[in-house]
Amino acid sequence: MESTTQTLHVDLGKRSYPIYIGRDLLGKAELYQRHIPSQQVMVVSNETVAPLYLEQVLTALKDFQTGSVILPDGEKFKTLEVWNHIFDALLAQHFDRRCTILALGGGVIGDMAGFAAAAYQRGVHFIQVPTTLLAQVDSSVGGKTGLNHALGKNMIGAFYQPRCVIADTDTLNTLEDRQLAAGLAEVIKYGLITDAEFFVWLEENLDALLNREIQALSYAIARSCQNKAHIVAADELEAGQRALLNLGHTFGHAIETGVGYGDWLHGEGVGAGICMAATLSHRLGWLTDSEKRRIVEIIERAGLPVEPPSQLTPERFIELMSVDKKVLDGHLRLVLLQGIGKSIVTGDFNHNDLNATLNEYRRAN
Ligand code: NAD
Ligand code: GLY
Repeated sequence: MESTTQTLHVDLGKRSYPIYIGRDLLGKAELYQRHIPSQQVMVVSNETVAPLYLEQVLTALKDFQTGSVILPDGEKFKTLEVWNHIFDALLAQHFDRRCTILALGGGVIGDMAGFAAAAYQRGVHFIQVPTTLLAQVDSSVGGKTGLNHALGKNMIGAFYQPRCVIADTDTLNTLEDRQLAAGLAEVIKYGLITDAEFFVWLEENLDALLNREIQALSYAIARSCQNKAHIVAADELEAGQRALLNLGHTFGHAIETGVGYGDWLHGEGVGAGICMAATLSHRLGWLTDSEKRRIVEIIERAGLPVEPPSQLTPERFIELMSVDKKVLDGHLRLVLLQGIGKSIVTGDFNHNDLNATLNEYRRAN
């Protein structure tokens, strides 16, 4: 059994920080002490994760003055209104501008707590303690924080880096299978955008990941974080290559917004979105038949949807995709594939091909 803690680094000059990945990290007081610079710590969690892990974290933080705020669970609560509960707790308990906000939960909690840390008294310290696979491999790293708007996913937010990420792989033991699969969508993404060798490893080790074998999971989390840290260090504010991390996301966000937040999980939208991006790339002649087949196969084996929901028409897709952070001057750009491990972000594709791809799914449904 894997018992050592791996430490990776996100290199961002003065704002560099470590990512700790290992077992039994939640209760390690010394880890928190190393990264919390003052007395007050507000733990932000939700009503599912708090009963499982809050006590363990608060015990490890016993030398600090702690508070906690427990938000309702779900993507549909990633709103300005619910976000305000964090400020209610901080102000009611007189937390000052040197305090630390600690996110204990999945990507929804991490995004909301991180954005609160960016905004409270114009910025306080922030620590990520991700408890889903998706959050451990993606959302806790890189400093994207924010909220949804009824008209668009993650449309309100800020770049705000944590002081450290503590990914305790033991927390994945309580995760539902559907949530594990959702995390695998983002893991597979790394293989596709830049890391072909990792993609082959994933094809060979997917069953071990689905069976939650700890060595396979630890390896996949660390390799994913390495990939992400490398891209974020090169392009923190997404002026260029960071957009590659959004493979499948323009289609996926449209699905999430279109069906109503929470009906499809984020990772499910990304899974179907990756297949849609692969289908368009194949239509453009950039992917071979066999590459496209391998991509759809691994998404399907992971237990993820490979097609969008039938209620979203091509016209609705186009409308929803026009509200995307990669849209510039009204022009839609997409992350597309030119091979396994080779991706580009481009607006330079024939829109008839996009329409034909969307229509292909209409026929399939
Ligand atoms: P989530 O936060 O909704 O968590 C999924 C579910 O698992 C929730 O019901 C949660 O309560 C539960 N849960 C969490 N940890 C658990 C545990 N250890 N045991 C049992 N249940 C547990 O969803 P997610 O998939 O973690 O994150 C998705 C969110 O992340 C989306 O809002 C997405 O936009 C965002 N995201 C952000 C980034 C970024 O870079 N900031 C990247 C990818 C995704
Ligand atoms: N999940 C996309 C990014 O962090 O840029």
